[in-house]
Amino acid sequence: MSTHLFPTYKRWDLTFESANGDTITTPDGREFIDLMSGIGTVNMGHNHPEIVGAVEKQLHRGWHGSNFFQYDQQEQVAAQLADMTGLHRVFFANSGTEANEAAIKLARKATGREEIVSFTQSFHGRTYGSMAATGQAKIHEGYAPLPDGFTYAPYNDTEQAEKYITSDTAAVIVETIQGEGGVVPGTQAFLEKVDTLAKANGALLIIDEVQTGMGRTGEQFSYQKFGLDPDIVTVAKGLGNGFPVAAMMGKEALQSYFGPGSHGTTLGGNPLAMAAVHATLNVLNTPGLLSGVEAKSKHALQHLREQCEASEMVTEVRGAGLMIGIACGQPVAPILTKLQEKGVVALPAGEKVIRLLPPLTISEERLAQGLDTVMGAIKETAKTKA
Ligand SMILES: Cc1ncc(COP(=O)(O)O)c(C=O)c1O
Repeated sequence: MSTHLFPTYKRWDLTFESANGDTITTPDGREFIDLMSGIGTVNMGHNHPEIVGAVEKQLHRGWHGSNFFQYDQQEQVAAQLADMTGLHRVFFANSGTEANEAAIKLARKATGREEIVSFTQSFHGRTYGSMAATGQAKIHEGYAPLPDGFTYAPYNDTEQAEKYITSDTAAVIVETIQGEGGVVPGTQAFLEKVDTLAKANGALLIIDEVQTGMGRTGEQFSYQKFGLDPDIVTVAKGLGNGFPVAAMMGKEALQSYFGPGSHGTTLGGNPLAMAAVHATLNVLNTPGLLSGVEAKSKHALQHLREQCEASEMVTEVRGAGLMIGIACGQPVAPILTKLQEKGVVALPAGEKVIRLLPPLTISEERLAQGLDTVMGAIKETAKTKA
């Protein structure tokens, strides 16, 4: 097919036509169970009436005035986020990488230090600062020189963390579960140690909740499960249920370092995005939503682990909430293709992990149907290989 697009994405042989709830439809009328939520963004399901209604209402009242104006919508959403996190200052951006970029800049300015510590196999985005913080060589390839001052400590290694986090560290940036890196959960001991070391050394703790936030792991934000005390939290993806918007939240004491002219973005926090976020947060905070995620998670993990016990291909089923990784002993691309033939879309995480990020609103029955299909595709692929 002729194209005018840069080939930056390895696209599937599927065209997106429309989506509703947990179903995606292609132009030829085929329907797919969605176990990926637009890469962990459409957490409340596609076409959610409350969220669509809120955006539609704002659409006709003006999209954008610029950050020269006072925006009541930004204040309202910032107050909601502050209530949820105890972080009383918010900066709005448009994507996860931008939120992390803001966090890195703020950390350097606030501490007067240069060093940013992140972890091997982490992913924080594709712009220069966030890319430099990303602990994967393949992401850096061809883009030298990267900004100085970034080091990568081994993930889940408490002893090594002590060597990396020092009195020269401006900030430590960490995911509580590495998403792109293979759905690798951080241990309680490791994450607590990172928090303690950051505080002991006067460094800031930045938690990247771009993939784990917004209910994905069964809490509003995943760090809450570990009882951590971050100075900065970044969020995007699910923040506006897939509407392009991001936020960097920080402790109030950091505000003086981000004064007028220190940072900015033209479209960040526009009223249309704020309408999406306000409605999405209301849905997230609906009683029963998060306990529902926990219940579905428990059944899903148990079911998958039982089914995979005898599998020669699956080495581990891991994750939290509805962020689940099925680690396989071989590349998962053929399994994902087979899954699509059977009417389910799911993701890879790295080469050998199947990543499941269904909408949090998916029903138990529909999720079970999707998971059975995943198991079927794994079994069939194992047979074909033999
Ligand atoms: C943990 C994490 N941080 C940052 C990003 C970058 O977000 P975006 O693609 O919106 O720039 C991602 C994207 O996958 C992510 O998973």
